[in-house]
Amino acid sequence: MAEPIVRAAADADMPGLRAVADHYRLLGAWPERPDFVDAEREFGALLVGEVDGTIAGFGGTLRRGTVTHLGDLFVLPDHQSSGLGRAILSHLLPRDTPKVTFASDDKRAFALYVRNGMRPRCPLLYLKRGPLGGRPASRESGPAAPGDADVRAAAAMDAHVSGGDRTATLTWYAGLPGVTLHVSGAGYAFARVAGDRVVIGPAGGVTPQDCADIVLEAVNAHPQAGRVHLAVPGTHPLLPLLLEAGWHIGDMDTLMTSDDFMRLDCYTPHPDLG
Ligand SMILES: CC(C)(COP(=O)(O)OP(=O)(O)OC[C@H]1O[C@@H](n2cnc3c(N)ncnc32)[C@H](O)[C@@H]1OP(=O)(O)O)[C@@H](O)C(=O)NCCC(=O)NCCS
Repeated sequence: MAEPIVRAAADADMPGLRAVADHYRLLGAWPERPDFVDAEREFGALLVGEVDGTIAGFGGTLRRGTVTHLGDLFVLPDHQSSGLGRAILSHLLPRDTPKVTFASDDKRAFALYVRNGMRPRCPLLYLKRGPLGGRPASRESGPAAPGDADVRAAAAMDAHVSGGDRTATLTWYAGLPGVTLHVSGAGYAFARVAGDRVVIGPAGGVTPQDCADIVLEAVNAHPQAGRVHLAVPGTHPLLPLLLEAGWHIGDMDTLMTSDDFMRLDCYTPHPDLG
């Protein structure tokens, strides 16, 4: 097999990259463009690994201040365990700045992330709530499209709990169709409606209670949603509350960081954007 070529994703690489993403069903919550691989390309880095003229894998990051969020590392099954994932990662991750990722249960991924300086901090649980039943409302209730001042206030709180500033990424996200933003003096929560699905996050608060309150406000603003999705760190006080209330654990990753820069009891990340 030829040596893999790792390079920044160009326009011509995007169909091949999206084929890898589709193989892993990564874009189900992003039915329209721009999606989160577009965001990685614009606000972080997006690399492809090419083998024998085929895009066999890709990796993507987003930045918040000095923090690098590794959002994607995927290699097609026929090309796995041949060094491609390691090669992509070595070009993608900075050496001496803070890093975070949500690691799958793939042992190769876990080993590569530890070898790149990250350590497991806690499980990250992808919770979902089904429909509550009752009479459908004519439209979802909730706040209007986010204004600039609210996005700036949310970005300032987000930098505190997530470990770095990403005002540009959050401004982009706030402008997408279906995105709303709940802001109080002590918390913020983004929500996005796509089809019958609502994704909550990123969200955070000054205290764990402030975070729980604003997340529940965002959840309760969508009583008619078919499904509500929320990523909750295992150390967050919302976890027992939501499980007691009947939410289901849909999936589970391991939240890994290089340093202790995130407030894991005051923050619920976006599943894809961190
Ligand atoms: C995870 C993934 C991206 C890794 O890419 P890859 O090309 O298969 O992996 P590589 O061959 O580059 O590297 C794997 C490394 O893990 C090591 N490894 C394999 N099994 C291991 C184990 N059980 N324990 C410790 N290390 C192990 C290998 O030795 C190798 O390191 P080396 O090259 O220094 O010998 C790829 O397997 C994949 O796409 N998996 C499915 C999707 C997924 O879960 N992605 C991660 C999302 S967080």
